[in-house]
Amino acid sequence: MNVGVAHSEVNPNTRVMNSRGMWLTYALGVGLLHIVLLSIPFFSVPVAWTLTNIIHNLGMYVFLHAVKGTPFETPDQGKARLLTHWEQLDYGVQFTSSRKFFTISPIILHIYRFNMLTLNKTLGVLCRLPKWQLRGFFRSFTFHTGKQFLHKLVLGIETSCDDTAAAVVDETGKILGEAIHSQTEVHLKTGGIIPSVAQQLHRENIEQIVKETLSASGVTPNELSAIATTVKPGLALSLGVGLEYSSQLVNQYKKPFIPIHHMEAHALTIRITNKVDFPFLVLLVSGGHCLLAIVQGISDFLLLGKSLDIAPGDMLDKVARRLSLIKHPAYSTMSGGKAIEHLAKQGNRLHFNFQHPLHSCRNCDFSFSGLQSTVDKIIAQKEKDEGIEKGQILSCAADIAAAVQHTVASHIAKRTHRAILFCQQRGFLTPSNAILVVSGGVASNLYIRRTLEIVTKATNCILLCPPLNLCTDNGIMIAWNGIERLRAGLGILHNTEGVRYEPKCPLGIDISKQVGEAAIKIPSLKL
Ligand code: KG4
Ligand code: ZN
Repeated sequence: MNVGVAHSEVNPNTRVMNSRGMWLTYALGVGLLHIVLLSIPFFSVPVAWTLTNIIHNLGMYVFLHAVKGTPFETPDQGKARLLTHWEQLDYGVQFTSSRKFFTISPIILHIYRFNMLTLNKTLGVLCRLPKWQLRGFFRSFTFHTGKQFLHKLVLGIETSCDDTAAAVVDETGKILGEAIHSQTEVHLKTGGIIPSVAQQLHRENIEQIVKETLSASGVTPNELSAIATTVKPGLALSLGVGLEYSSQLVNQYKKPFIPIHHMEAHALTIRITNKVDFPFLVLLVSGGHCLLAIVQGISDFLLLGKSLDIAPGDMLDKVARRLSLIKHPAYSTMSGGKAIEHLAKQGNRLHFNFQHPLHSCRNCDFSFSGLQSTVDKIIAQKEKDEGIEKGQILSCAADIAAAVQHTVASHIAKRTHRAILFCQQRGFLTPSNAILVVSGGVASNLYIRRTLEIVTKATNCILLCPPLNLCTDNGIMIAWNGIERLRAGLGILHNTEGVRYEPKCPLGIDISKQVGEAAIKIPSLKL
């Protein structure tokens, strides 16, 4: 290609496009191409960089080796007329500062690309850009002691009850690694959670669980953006272990600390797997809690109702224990609630009829202790009738399990029905996008989920439940809560000084009085 012109004639190209315009156009073109490549689904960041680099190199090759003359720079082509640009560089002509920069830019891109690929391989950090989140990509670009991570990383630590759990989660909700040590089997043997035993088991396991989590994640403590730990509510002795261990890590690695409310974490878990915007209604049912709340923001909750006594999981655990299900090989290692769910499949719920708790109270509060003592009495009576000792399994155990499960499910569903109607009446939920999120250990019960589905269908709501492993206590939900708070800049501390665990801690602003005053009558549904 020879684009030179005769001596002393003005190069026509200069009139069309001056040299700066040419370079700017080229740079913008490459930049645009790079953005387009980044936004293509299935292309990871390194792939996009590599392609941009190759295309840029080809462009440079053509420009340096195929184009002769100096089309955009000088009217006098002189001896450069028959030389390629590469040859002109050899002669020391045309060595402008912009030319120098663009000549070395492929080298810079190579170094950058190599760096990214090495990071990916060695640290296992997949620098995958969610296609539709370019802005998030640029915002989350953080540097750590010379290494680059595309997303913020939070280590979550959970020890509020009987699970020692940890996880590392990134800003996109990607779980880089997790580990959990469950104490269920030990507590089943001792007939319930003994706080000092739980504390001892947390102490024995926490270091190993955090180490396993970090090594599974391929992340060192230095590379974390923050450490998030459950500090409320829960068993005092258990919470203490998590806080103490986290304090050590925070002080040793000088990381920000994010104290987490266990129920807030349960409520926000759904946002890892589903795109759920605020506000939404949440029902949290576990071994320690039972509540209905409107989630207006990350730490902005309106409490509609809660259990006046024990939680449904606790009640199911007690019934399972009273039925001696631990002696049944099929259920001996399951939590009480799970054992009841499995046993109930073989039973007929119509053989027993338990009264529904708080039947005449038109609010969203719950109660389970009355039901529990009724069931206790029935079991004692049946043991007498069947002439068996306390501790042996009744022939009607499956029927009792089915009836108890149905009563719990109906009670929860009715209170939730009223909460949905209240929210719809007061405009707390948008009619076009009314979402009910159900989480907590008891939410893993499929019979209870199906009963709730009847309610959501009748009220034009969408029912969302996290996957089973995220319903029960885990470290992922704590790490994710940390990410949510980190992104929003909420409750991030520079150290753990002055942080205390709180065994009891309400969630949000209590508006249950207003709910009671509204006294909404719920239409009857066949549950
Ligand atoms: O959320 P979680 O792991 O811990 C607390 O924060 O309490 O919930 C544990 C509770 C236990 O009481 C257990 O019996 C109950 O959840 N649970 C179930 C099921 N799986 C666990 N309850 C009913 N059906 C299940 N499938
Ligand atoms: Zn929980």
